[in-house]
Amino acid sequence: MPNEDQIEYWNDSAGEQWVAEQATMDAMLVKVTEALMTRAAPKSGQRVLDIGCGTGETSVIVADAGATVIGVDISGPMLALAQKRLGARGETIRADASEYQDQSGFDLIISRFGVMFFDDPAAAFANIHSNLKSGGRIVFACWRAPQENDWVIRPMMAVKPFMPETPEQDPHAPGPFALADPERLGEILEMADFKEVSIEPVDIEMVLADSGGVDQSMHFLTKIGPTAKAMAEMDDATKAKMHEALREVLLPFESDGRVALKGAIWVVQANQ
Ligand SMILES: C[S@@+](CC[C@H](N)C(=O)[O-])C[C@H]1O[C@@H](n2cnc3c(N)ncnc32)[C@H](O)[C@@H]1O
Repeated sequence: MPNEDQIEYWNDSAGEQWVAEQATMDAMLVKVTEALMTRAAPKSGQRVLDIGCGTGETSVIVADAGATVIGVDISGPMLALAQKRLGARGETIRADASEYQDQSGFDLIISRFGVMFFDDPAAAFANIHSNLKSGGRIVFACWRAPQENDWVIRPMMAVKPFMPETPEQDPHAPGPFALADPERLGEILEMADFKEVSIEPVDIEMVLADSGGVDQSMHFLTKIGPTAKAMAEMDDATKAKMHEALREVLLPFESDGRVALKGAIWVVQANQ
């Protein structure tokens, strides 16, 4: 089955954490949402597909704009919350976006960080392209390289000394940074027959804490995202040392209880 590992991952503790932290995550990603939705600009009368809709933030915004929204996702727990938030205003479907087919087609396809997890991105984007109506558009946000994302690289470097040596990872493997290389991303989209591809760098502030300082930012970093994933397998004594190292690296970024680090995304737009 394609994307089997990701299906397992997003239906297990990762999906549950995203559900538990939905309000925190949406507050943290508010600048990403703004960058994505101002460019997507969904309108009343449009049919819109939200890929990897997760707990539903962007689907709710599309529904509020008066468009018809369908959110697809592979995660049962995240979709259940998305449907609850949408109520009768929109539909969610548990499906793999690399295979999902809709007969009526969409005017607009959007995604906030839901398109980086495909085993075969070229085939997945070709399938996504086939769901666009003539004249339709795709607009999505994905992460630039970890080195450009202080909120990832600084905590990762802090905990790295406590981690066992791991073999070099494939930078294109399914995961948050799989589409970080703009040349490869452009090639994937062109192979999938998208036209007028634009890959725009947008810098954002990742607010890891709005008022609770380092404690609040630790709550996030140890539960969701790359640092949490790296720490998950460690024993308690090592985790305690990692926590200490994380605190130290975050302290210089704290000001009046707020902790914010640089984030870097691509906002990608393309036509059918
Ligand atoms: C980083 S989360 C983002 C969720 C949501 N868009 C948000 O911004 O809150 C990635 C989402 O993509 C979903 N996903 C991963 N692979 C998928 C696939 N092949 N088809 C559909 N959804 C997928 C995951 O289940 C998860 O909900």
